[in-house]
Amino acid sequence: MTIDDFSADSPSPSRAKTAFSVVSAEGKRDEKFENTLRPKDFKNYIGQSEVKENMKVFVAAAKKRGESLDHALFYGPPGLGKTTLATILATEMGANLRITSGPAMEKPGDLAAILTNLKPHDFLFIDEIHRLRLPVEEILYTAMEDFAIDLVVGKGPSARTMRIDVPPFTLLGATTRASLLSSPLRDRFGHVEKLRFYEPDEIQKIIERSAKILNVTLEPEAAKLLSECARRTPRIANRLLRRIRDFAQIQHAGVITLPVAEQSLGHLSIDSIGLDHADQEYLTVLCEKFQGGPAGLSTISAAIGEDEQTLEDMIEPFLIREGLLQKTPRGRMVTLQAWKHLGLTPPAKSASLF
Ligand SMILES: Nc1ncnc2c1ncn2[C@@H]1O[C@H](COP(=O)(O)OP(=O)(O)O)[C@@H](O)[C@H]1O
Ligand SMILES: [Mg+2]
Repeated sequence: MTIDDFSADSPSPSRAKTAFSVVSAEGKRDEKFENTLRPKDFKNYIGQSEVKENMKVFVAAAKKRGESLDHALFYGPPGLGKTTLATILATEMGANLRITSGPAMEKPGDLAAILTNLKPHDFLFIDEIHRLRLPVEEILYTAMEDFAIDLVVGKGPSARTMRIDVPPFTLLGATTRASLLSSPLRDRFGHVEKLRFYEPDEIQKIIERSAKILNVTLEPEAAKLLSECARRTPRIANRLLRRIRDFAQIQHAGVITLPVAEQSLGHLSIDSIGLDHADQEYLTVLCEKFQGGPAGLSTISAAIGEDEQTLEDMIEPFLIREGLLQKTPRGRMVTLQAWKHLGLTPPAKSASLF
């Protein structure tokens, strides 16, 4: 989704109010901005200590044996540092990193061409690996296990398979949906690591580091406030910082003080726990149109006009994490906490459910 989507005609007043979503805004400029802030080594990769410690050990062991690192899969909601971790691992191993993504490869030949062009010990990063098409995915099975691929040459009765060697390489996969990965693919990863939402003090460190790189003065109270409103997600923290830097530069001589941060969050319609208008709309629709649920994902998706995958990947994980939303066998339901947060009164019938 692009930022422009939010300025499109929409029946919902909360959408027309603001043209910016910290959750889903993306584009080329964001990408460049992200790369500037991407930590290049473990030292600057803040938080995720469990995953980080594990990976450090695996890197050290592989280096000691002079071998490639085992294939690794990272999963978790967007913006938690999967791509960053992949680039750090390749750097730590002194390896080249080739980057592609599941949907970018249409035919088995696309992947075969990438694999056969790798140099020994290269890293191949496949983002959104759950979106690989099955025939492409099948090429990976033997490549990961035997460093060889079986290609079908010719058509009809004269078709035959040809085995081609692939240099020993390390596959790094990233996905927001580990559950959509087939088990043959999943089982071939030596390491499967889940990235978690960050603690506010970790987010604060990330924002402070980013402010230094961007050369803006960020007062500690402002950093603390922003860290509480960043949905525990580094990407969102960095995007917030970027937006607020704009406000600060135009209106406040470039210094982000607490009042500047508060005012900017207000302009961006971000509330005290970091919900932006998309989150607020999700909860409000569920409360007001569906009496708090349970309602099916497809129904909510139709009511909001946002596709199901975006809701499931970008909006719901954080709402669940914060105890505002529950997934039940009968559909999505808001919690009592969500009613309270929105300042709404739950209908009498749902009192028995909480
Ligand atoms: N542990 C971390 N420490 C510091 N910055 C981080 C960390 N994880 C992510 N970031 C920042 O957040 C942004 C998004 O991270 P990225 O790796 O692209 O997320 P993902 O691939 O999981 O969607 C990057 O710009 C990066 O600078
Ligand atoms: Mg990524």
